[in-house]
Amino acid sequence: MIQIVPTTAIEGQKPGTSGLRKKTPVFIRAPYLQNYVQAIFDGIGGVQGKVLVLGGDGRYFNDTAIGVILRMAAANGAARCIVGQGGLLSTPAASNLIRLRGADGGLILSASHNPGGPDADFGLKFNGANGGPASETVSEAIHACTASLREYRIWDGPAPDITGLGEAYLGAMVVEVIDPVADYAEMMARIFDFDALRALFASGFRLRFDAMHAITGPYAREILERRLGAAPGSVVNATPLPDFGGGHPDPNPIWAHALMDTMYATDAPDFGAASDGDGDRNMIVGRSCYVSPSDSLAVLADLAHLAPGYAGGLKGVARSMPTSCAVDRVAEAKGIACFETPTGWKFFGTLLDAGRATLCGEESAGTGSDHVREKDGLWAVLLWLNILAATRKSVAELMADHWARYGRNYYSRHDYEEVDAEAAQALIADLRAALPTLAGQSIGPLKIARADEFAYDDPVDGAHAGAQGLRIFFDGGARLVFRLSGTGTAGATLRVYLERLETDPDQLHLDPQEALAPVITAAEAIAGITARTGRAKPDVIT
Ligand code: G1P
Ligand code: ZN
Repeated sequence: MIQIVPTTAIEGQKPGTSGLRKKTPVFIRAPYLQNYVQAIFDGIGGVQGKVLVLGGDGRYFNDTAIGVILRMAAANGAARCIVGQGGLLSTPAASNLIRLRGADGGLILSASHNPGGPDADFGLKFNGANGGPASETVSEAIHACTASLREYRIWDGPAPDITGLGEAYLGAMVVEVIDPVADYAEMMARIFDFDALRALFASGFRLRFDAMHAITGPYAREILERRLGAAPGSVVNATPLPDFGGGHPDPNPIWAHALMDTMYATDAPDFGAASDGDGDRNMIVGRSCYVSPSDSLAVLADLAHLAPGYAGGLKGVARSMPTSCAVDRVAEAKGIACFETPTGWKFFGTLLDAGRATLCGEESAGTGSDHVREKDGLWAVLLWLNILAATRKSVAELMADHWARYGRNYYSRHDYEEVDAEAAQALIADLRAALPTLAGQSIGPLKIARADEFAYDDPVDGAHAGAQGLRIFFDGGARLVFRLSGTGTAGATLRVYLERLETDPDQLHLDPQEALAPVITAAEAIAGITARTGRAKPDVIT
């Protein structure tokens, strides 16, 4: 029986950089989830007769939310819901399934790398028929529906059990429970040279993959250990837990410090990697050699042709604006286009769909290609492994080669988390107002060449996105970017992105924080971060 439940609009149901993220207790309190799901269905023009993909990263409330969404999809007339067994799907696997099955879209339950649990974070995002995050236009339509919502529709019987594979009916809707890993693993086998990878592991190559108690555990076990022959136990923290073991499933040197310790110890494995809550981010670390995400993107762009899936070369590359410019010089050397987009994977979709870019990346540990329409953590790990297998060089050797050829973009991001929202907004507003006066000023050894606010006009569909970060360029290629996070769930997070190009062969192996010292000083001088936020130093440095 279809129930039509009267409801009232809830304020603040506005999708951010990547869907709607809120504290778990907010999402749990009915009808928060129900309202938002109905707004998604209404915002995309209804789901009558449509096929949807559904799954999440397994965090606390994942299973209950899946049940609610299934009952609402059935009541709204959906024809079929393809659900990952146990309600699990990594974000890239969901993107693949949408494309593979020709679905009309998908709902992914995740707050990505944010912690999970009853007092932590929850999130929900909608991906369209191309498998990618909803565009700005669709996100705005969904947001508009949240504001005018009067009722939601829900099936009043229980949702079918999704712990086993197979099909069941919920009203007239088919609930199809599938293996979350199988199709994804097949796709990886098509892109990469699995024979070469098996030979690499057979030769004694040692790997540690830290799944951080999140969704990639089952995927990494199947692909790296079972199919490619990495030693059993190479994948650690491989069982997805509702609270991710109490940690932040964020693959960076801070939150994945256990992996860093292993990789910097004597007798470290040859290669280390980690992924995040929903499996779209990656961290790459060689023996005593951490690879920054911006550098990783540049190296992958340079050497992707060594993997069968990219043997024909790349059509173009794209990076988010705050990502370092390292990949730009690779693109220049190869004579391919390099696009600069606002922060968030949704801006890559049109370029990938139009065949103008093959590889994309963000400084926030996201890398991906046109195989799906999301960033893809395990894919990045496999591409690195494929390159290592083809070159038989170490990660450190590959990095040294890369910097010697292209120079090194020293890069770091300083995050000030949960700062007072008004203070953060005032900092940005005042800096925005000061931008026209900055050119020509000197701070220590650095002279400001120009300053602006980044805006983007999509070269494919012409959509405009304004206010995407404040940029300050210095003579000689250094750059500072200021923006506020669009994924936080409490207060504001100020992100300061610092970059400096170094081409002197004797200066390519410095500590990034030391190499960036003049840029760090300039950031404080220009924005007055300490005075305005009351923070003497950043909470997280990556
Ligand atoms: C952050 C990252 C951004 C990424 C997003 C979703 O967004 O900076 O690159 O696309 O998470 O994973 P932000 O919090 O900066 O808005
Ligand atoms: Zn993620």
